[in-house]
Amino acid sequence: MNKTISAFISGIGSEVPATVITNEDLAQLVDTSDEWIRSRTGIQARRQASPELAASDLATIAGQRALETAGINADELGAIIVATSTPDMVFPSTGCVIQKNLQATNAFAYDLSDACSGFLFALSNGSQYVESGMCQHVLVIGVDLMTRITDFQDRNTCVLFGDGAGAVVISGSKETGGVLGTQLGTDGRFGEILQVPAGGSRMPLTEENFSERKQFIHMNGSEVFKLAVRSMEQAALQLLDHTGVSLKDIDWLVPHQANKRIIETLGKRLQIPGERVFMNLQHYGNMSAASIPVALDEAWRKGLILPDQLILMLAFGGGLTWGASLAKWSLPPQS
Ligand code: ACO
Repeated sequence: MNKTISAFISGIGSEVPATVITNEDLAQLVDTSDEWIRSRTGIQARRQASPELAASDLATIAGQRALETAGINADELGAIIVATSTPDMVFPSTGCVIQKNLQATNAFAYDLSDACSGFLFALSNGSQYVESGMCQHVLVIGVDLMTRITDFQDRNTCVLFGDGAGAVVISGSKETGGVLGTQLGTDGRFGEILQVPAGGSRMPLTEENFSERKQFIHMNGSEVFKLAVRSMEQAALQLLDHTGVSLKDIDWLVPHQANKRIIETLGKRLQIPGERVFMNLQHYGNMSAASIPVALDEAWRKGLILPDQLILMLAFGGGLTWGASLAKWSLPPQS
């Protein structure tokens, strides 16, 4: 597609809480070990937000940092899109809370779900507002406090997740570049393999389902593993086909940070060598919608991602949902 306006990533920022939960800490709670968690997942630690913090608190800080790197004021934003499965509350949306916190008086704001893939869905929305000329600047945030919906009595899931927030500013430019394309997909038939059953209108929280721990994540890990690899690989190949970019031209694969073995299998299938695959899940675990923007921010601040490089982002999550997004990086290195 020939675009007259391109959507550039003009700012980026992230925030993770200070409290670290190590594998050894979890081994005090459930029957697990550092060795098991590292070898099956690659995760060594994750962060946990203190009880007084909500999603909007981390997201506001991430958003402020993204605005600073973009060099714009909050009142220049046309929209704020927040990908989260752990909003502050049912409503108002977390987006509206962040709008108030940032004093983004000219923006409209909303949340979208789609679990761990949410950031790429939000990035696609934001890019289209910019490319259509509807907005000049959009703040796209991925935030999740996964420890709030994690069952710390379930060793199958409690070792996997952590809390964090990442944000990008998308800005319009007549130059070519920025977000070059996005491929999104969902398959609701597999919804049951990864879900939080209670707390919505299907199963409002009651004492009974609370005692059955249905307010927490329930997951069939091995099914998720297989489908994650297959869907992200397909999404990547379809996107590259549509955009006419070859795998060998990809400078960085920045995938959803769920499991080292999923990422390594994906890298092998796509024939992207390990040194071009960014991973930080060892420090943070799976932060769901926050995982890709936090990884992007860290890779950029470390000086790994450089201007004009091609970045392939791949995500997968409950729903099932998945996505691939290709961007030409434009932010200069941090001085
Ligand atoms: N410590 C020790 N043993 C454990 C633990 C643990 N923390 N968790 C599970 N086990 C046990 C299981 O009970 C099972 O024991 P059993 O054979 O006696 O029943 C055994 O380990 C093997 O279980 P598997 O499920 O076969 O282990 P696997 O090698 O598949 O690894 C894992 C499990 C890590 C969950 C893996 O399947 C995985 O990562 N799947 C993807 C999960 C994921 O990424 N989910 C989120 C993605 S989407 C999103 O981000 C929302």
